[in-house]
Amino acid sequence: MNRFVNSLTGRFLVLTVIFVMLAEVMIFVPSVARFRVEYLQERLELSQIASLTLLATPDDMVSPTLKRELLVNAEVLSITLRRPDMRQLILSQAETPPVEETFDLREAPVVELILDAMNALVRTGDRPIRVIGMPVKGGGVMIEATLFEAPLRQAMISYGLNILRLSIVISLITAFLLFLAVRRFIVKPMKRVVDHMTDYAADPENAQRIIKPTSRVSELMSAEVALADLQSQLTQSLKQKERLATLGGAVSRVSHDLRNMLTTAQLLADRFERSEDPTVKRTAPKLIGSLDRAINLCERTLTFGKAEEPAPQIRQHQLARVVEDVMDSDRLRSTDDGVRLVCEVDPSVTVDADGEQLFRILSNLTRNARQAIAATGEPGQITVRAAALQDSCQIEVVDTGPGLPPKARENIFQPFKGGVRHGGTGLGLAIAAELARGHGGALELVETSATGTRFRITLPRQTSQAA
Ligand SMILES: Nc1ncnc2c1ncn2[C@@H]1O[C@H](COP(=O)(O)OP(=O)(O)OP(=O)(O)O)[C@@H](O)[C@H]1O
Ligand SMILES: [Mg+2]
Repeated sequence: MNRFVNSLTGRFLVLTVIFVMLAEVMIFVPSVARFRVEYLQERLELSQIASLTLLATPDDMVSPTLKRELLVNAEVLSITLRRPDMRQLILSQAETPPVEETFDLREAPVVELILDAMNALVRTGDRPIRVIGMPVKGGGVMIEATLFEAPLRQAMISYGLNILRLSIVISLITAFLLFLAVRRFIVKPMKRVVDHMTDYAADPENAQRIIKPTSRVSELMSAEVALADLQSQLTQSLKQKERLATLGGAVSRVSHDLRNMLTTAQLLADRFERSEDPTVKRTAPKLIGSLDRAINLCERTLTFGKAEEPAPQIRQHQLARVVEDVMDSDRLRSTDDGVRLVCEVDPSVTVDADGEQLFRILSNLTRNARQAIAATGEPGQITVRAAALQDSCQIEVVDTGPGLPPKARENIFQPFKGGVRHGGTGLGLAIAAELARGHGGALELVETSATGTRFRITLPRQTSQAA
């Protein structure tokens, strides 16, 4: 029962019954008042007929039995005619009790009629009352009749009960019709949506289960369209997540084996240091440094096994040295593509950062710039500058390349989305930005045009306490 009342159809049913009953009460009060007036008017009309009968016969020719019958027929105790000049008692029962209240039906205001009616309904006991009214064909004659109130009340009550029965029937029929309508136009379409949701929830990656909006009710249609949108977005992002998870697994496996290979390479590189060839001897430490970093990265990826970068181990570094390091390994990587690397960082500038991570940020930026310049086939230059500010260090990587293509610009710093370069993964800038954010800093694209691109890294200074 409780469940039914809490359901949409149940609520509609109950409310309809209540509302129809309320409407009926509003109709009930005036119609009972009207019923009372009609009842009394009828008594007056019958009294008039009786009085006409009497007046038409000569005096005392009417037997007492007939007189009584006339009174019984009119259902009154006495009848009096009133003319402007005289008042004439026409008929009366032998012992008429004294009248307790008089009601004048001529021009009585509606409110008074309603109050009188309600009063008559709630009274108990039987009292004689007097009614005054105009007979049907007036002619200046008024008629007055006395009668008992109980039969009037009885008639009013049975009339009221009739209205009540009718109201119940009407409200039940209305409620039933509404019940059908609510089921057809609200409950069923809503159930369809809910069923779809449940179905979709069971397998949200299946695009076949996305709801296809069909409702003809406009509000439900909007809801279905919104739901379809939501579900397609969710399905898409779940697929993306799945791809990323697969990628994560692959990265872990690759990192694992890569670490082993790099360790072997490092052992071999150690021998280069002992080489007699001065060039080999000079480059060996760089090679070892690079391998060190690569092994480190693989190990960290394996330890954390997740997409997030570990928290940076922040120390103070001489920025120029980190930049030179980056440039050295970049130079080793690519030789004669006409790209000049220039470090304009003053040796006095220091930066608070995780050396390894800062290296990765800078090397991603310089590598991108180099690749962009090389792709044009023209010579170019990459410059790194820095400004030590009060509470941060700003590093700018400026190149004379062709600028970011539109797709890269729209999806900048979003993993996998911004990459347009053949052979690139579109991760470099996203990683660099994430590393900068990890430092409480930022990576931003300051400008990019056909004549060059400028990226800015901002790294906050550690407060003395944190340092
Ligand atoms: N300095 C630059 N000049 C011109 N285009 C650039 C520059 N830096 C980045 N881009 C463009 O932005 C895209 C995204 O760079 P991002 O480093 O994120 O990915 P990627 O270089 O394609 O791949 P990878 O993950 O191997 O770095 C590049 O494909 C390139 O088109
Ligand atoms: Mg890149």
